[in-house]
Amino acid sequence: MTAGRSHPALAFTRPSTARMYSYYLGGSAWFEVDRAAAEAVLRSAPDAGVVARENFLFAGRAAAWAAKTHGIGQVLDVGAGILSGVPLPSVEDHVHQVCPGAVVVGCDNDPVVLAHARGLRPGYKRILEGDVRDLDTIFGNPDLKTSLNVAERMVVVLAAVLHFVADDQVKGVVDNLRQRLAPGSVLVMSHATSSATDRRRVSGMELAYVDATSRIYFRTEEEIADLLIDWDAVDPPALCDVGRWGLPTPRDGQSGRHVRVVGMAAVLPDSRHGRVRTPGGAR
Ligand SMILES: C[S@@+](CC[C@H](N)C(=O)[O-])C[C@H]1O[C@@H](n2cnc3c(N)ncnc32)[C@H](O)[C@@H]1O
Repeated sequence: MTAGRSHPALAFTRPSTARMYSYYLGGSAWFEVDRAAAEAVLRSAPDAGVVARENFLFAGRAAAWAAKTHGIGQVLDVGAGILSGVPLPSVEDHVHQVCPGAVVVGCDNDPVVLAHARGLRPGYKRILEGDVRDLDTIFGNPDLKTSLNVAERMVVVLAAVLHFVADDQVKGVVDNLRQRLAPGSVLVMSHATSSATDRRRVSGMELAYVDATSRIYFRTEEEIADLLIDWDAVDPPALCDVGRWGLPTPRDGQSGRHVRVVGMAAVLPDSRHGRVRTPGGAR
């Protein structure tokens, strides 16, 4: 944080992406300004709360699947979000259920998220301040290096974060991340999509975020898949609605009708690890 200038997320007159998400999830960490903006989203997409919960569960389900199936004992959860009052298992809960010894580190650029996580997420070994748009702030943080071995494979979770990164930066972020990770690392990613949704609903949601701490950038499924073109998508299901990813039948999760968030897991190519394994039936 720059001395003498307040962080945008501490301007409580402005909606924050993290606190709006808390509102969708039925959490308790939001103010009137966040509620008003989140309600504007819900007017455009009445199923935004359902889809937010499906996204939240996808992040944990996919991270746990990746850690267990690929035998990876370290997870970096970028864009940690606020769990206060949310009655759902977190990324670290899911991971520790299948890999009790795994080290999970959280990261976010919102000081309110950091404050909540420091008190209330004991499953995180650490929570770091860092901005995904400048990966030096994350990978250059000495606290990261004392918790995670960056030379070894890790699971990186970027759930519902990249749609807060502008068009001229987003591909650079993913490419830069690729260069920092050991081959065989797994990226778990989800993103709001404009594909197969009503354009007016998307515009309404984009408008609701215009004054927030970050704008939201809906992208087509092709644009989202292209971000990870250099990775080996776990296939099936590759990119699909988060409510369906890794579940035995589509009925087990819900897909959005008004707003869609799609997710995938992808492996940083490494011939030593052979064929990519599929998550069918992952829980
Ligand atoms: C919609 S929430 C998603 C939370 C969680 N990843 C999930 O999917 O359940 C987005 C989170 O990303 C964080 N975020 C937004 N832009 C970010 C950035 N540039 N760098 C790091 N975190 C960011 C927000 O503060 C918020 O906590």
